[in-house]
Amino acid sequence: MNAAAAQIENLDRSSEALPLLSVRSVSKAYGARIGCTEVNFDIWPGEVLAIVGESGSGKTTLLNCISTRLEPTSGTIAYRMRDGEMRDLYQLGEAERRFLLRTDWGFVHQNPADGLRMTVSAGANVGERLMAVGHRHYGELRATATDWLGRVEIGADRIDDQPRAFSGGMRQRLQIARNLVTAPRLVFMDEPTGGLDVSVQARLLDLVRGLVNELGLSVIIVTHDLAVARLLSHRMLVMKDGRVVEHGLTDRLLDDPQAPYTQLLVSSILQV
Ligand SMILES: Nc1ncnc2c1ncn2[C@@H]1O[C@H](COP(=O)(O)OP(=O)(O)OP(=O)(O)O)[C@@H](O)[C@H]1O
Ligand SMILES: [Mg+2]
Repeated sequence: MNAAAAQIENLDRSSEALPLLSVRSVSKAYGARIGCTEVNFDIWPGEVLAIVGESGSGKTTLLNCISTRLEPTSGTIAYRMRDGEMRDLYQLGEAERRFLLRTDWGFVHQNPADGLRMTVSAGANVGERLMAVGHRHYGELRATATDWLGRVEIGADRIDDQPRAFSGGMRQRLQIARNLVTAPRLVFMDEPTGGLDVSVQARLLDLVRGLVNELGLSVIIVTHDLAVARLLSHRMLVMKDGRVVEHGLTDRLLDDPQAPYTQLLVSSILQV
C-alpha cells in the first residue's frame, strides 16, 4: 500500500471509530406509564441494529425518540452530522432537523400509507424526495425514479400509477425506494414487513439486505420477529417493559442468550 492509500485508510478508521448515533439514558414516560427507560447504545456507520421485544415493550417509543418524532422525557441523543460534528438532536434548529429528515435519514413505516403520498404517482413519490434536496431537472428526476423503481422490482410501466393501485408488497418497496433515493446515512424501520404475507416478507427482506450491503447503510430496525433480526442485523437490543434486558452481537445473542427473558424468547421461537 502506498503512503496516500495508507493515509486514507487511517482516516477511514478514525471516522469509523466515532459512532454515528449515541443514545444515553433515554427515557420516555406517558404520564405515569413507562414508554422506555434508561436506554443506552451507539450505532456505527454501516451497522444494522435490531430492536426486538414483545408488544408494548417500548420499541416504537424508542425509535420515535431517536428519530426526533417524540421528545424523550430525559436523556440525550447525539448524531454525527455530515461535517463530522456530534450534535444533540434535540438542540438542532428546525432547518437542520428538516435536513436530517429529508436527506440524511430515511423512515420506513410499518404501514406504507404513512410513508407515501397515496394520491400522487409512484414516480412522483420518489422524485419528491430528490426535489426536496434541490434536484429540478424533469428528465433526470424521471430517470432516477425509474432506476430506483427497478431496484425495488417495480416495472417502469408502473411509474405513473398511484400507490393506491399497488399491492401491499409493492407499496412497501416503493416506500423503500422513496427513502433511499437521497442516499441517507441512517434508516429507521418500524416492522417493515409487518403487514405482509410470509413469501412477500421473505423477498422484501432479501431486497432490504441487498440494498443495505450495497449502500453501506446504517439501519435501526424494530421487529418482534427474531428471524428478521437474525437475517438483517449485526447487533440486537432486547426490550421488555421499556428496559433493555440484553444487548449484543446478533449471532452471539441468539446462540447463547444470557438474560432469562431472551432465553425464553429464543427458545419459544426455535422450537416452532
Ligand atoms: N401515545 C401513548 N400514550 C400513552 N401510552 C403509550 C403511548 N404510546 C405507547 N404507550 C405505552 O408505552 C408502552 C410502549 O409502547 P410501544 O408502542 O413503544 O411498544 P412496542 O414495543 O412498539 O409494541 P408493538 O410491538 O405492539 O408495536 C406501552 O405500555 C404502551 O401502552
Ligand atoms: Mg410498535
